[in-house]
Amino acid sequence: MYSNYELTVIIPTFNEEVNIARMIEAVNSTLSLNKIHGEILIVDDESRDKTIKIVEELMLKYNNLRIIVRHTDHGLSQSVVEGFRQANSNAFMVIDADFSHPPELIPLFYEEIKKGTDIVIGSRYTRGGGIKQWPLKRRILSLGATGLGRILFPEITDPVSGFFALKKKVVSGAQLHPRGYKILMEVLGKGKWNSVVEIPFTFTDRENGESKLTFCIITDYVKQISNIAKYSLVFRNNHVWNEWEKLGKFCFVGLSGVLVNVGSLYLFTEYIGLYYIISSLVAIEISILSNFFLNDYWTFKLKDKANKYTQNRFKRFFSFQCISIVGLIINIGVLYFLTDFFGIYYLVSNLIGIVIVFFWNYLMNRHVTWKL
Ligand code: GDD
Repeated sequence: MYSNYELTVIIPTFNEEVNIARMIEAVNSTLSLNKIHGEILIVDDESRDKTIKIVEELMLKYNNLRIIVRHTDHGLSQSVVEGFRQANSNAFMVIDADFSHPPELIPLFYEEIKKGTDIVIGSRYTRGGGIKQWPLKRRILSLGATGLGRILFPEITDPVSGFFALKKKVVSGAQLHPRGYKILMEVLGKGKWNSVVEIPFTFTDRENGESKLTFCIITDYVKQISNIAKYSLVFRNNHVWNEWEKLGKFCFVGLSGVLVNVGSLYLFTEYIGLYYIISSLVAIEISILSNFFLNDYWTFKLKDKANKYTQNRFKRFFSFQCISIVGLIINIGVLYFLTDFFGIYYLVSNLIGIVIVFFWNYLMNRHVTWKL
């Protein structure tokens, strides 16, 4: 039988006869060069070419190599989950068979896992990452999928990456029912984790064979997103829920700011006798202040004491103030542009401006002011 390994490298395969031997060699040499006691687990969905035969032959040469051939419910994500179940280690690495993901980066992922990180993601969209040789259609699809994923996981730049590592405990006991290609979204949405780190890499489109991404896989993905969103509402103690909670609180604070603004405007104009434009400026500043403190002490209050924001409170206020002022300018710009250039009724233009500014304010503050 197999001994326990430090790391299991899971490679899902379907018709990869042109790549699989080279890939196994490459992973094995990376593991041994870096003295990682790792196993390679191929999870195949009844490839019709020679993939299975090639792996079986290589198993005679490498005793850390195994293959599982699945006969039902075929699919990339389902295969990866099967790999999690069958792995003989406490840390898993998932990588494509076609060299889209560079196997020489595996030790970097494993280093992070050893440091205690729960999930390590190879990102194409973080600084230093990239994509080579993708047609425009594929790039647009990918940006759409990533954008949708980032609604659920705003702190992660590439939540649909197929190149990632994780500790076994993240998925043990998790109810994973992935469809399509986006296994990582399922792990992030339903796994138990506290820390995630992204490692930049350049995705290189396969030179041999072809992608198995089909229209069905794309529609499956949209279903999966709504499934994870629903799930997160039921199991509130997870990251997706935390992000929705923050968005809801931020919205509530924004509405309270409107009341503070109107109240102050009335007070300063009617009781103190200031000119209404001056009162309005004072009222805007008071509502910015009240919004900041409510968000700082409530919306973005740190639940985990081990975490810290990158900026102190004074800098957070400065950043919030600047983002709010730019927001005001955007609001007026949208109002003017839509009304004067497109002839839209000014109250409707204003409403569109408010919605745009709400998302501007939320995303900028989430990623800049209250950045962890
Ligand atoms: N077992 C199994 N079953 N493996 C599969 C299946 C399947 O139904 N479909 C594809 N694979 C394997 C391929 O053999 C390859 O090793 C890997 O999964 C990726 O397949 P591709 O079809 O080449 O994927 P891609 O390049 O279009 O998509 C990649 O990038 C996406 C991000 O844009 C993958 O890494 C995805 O996981 C990733 O989300």
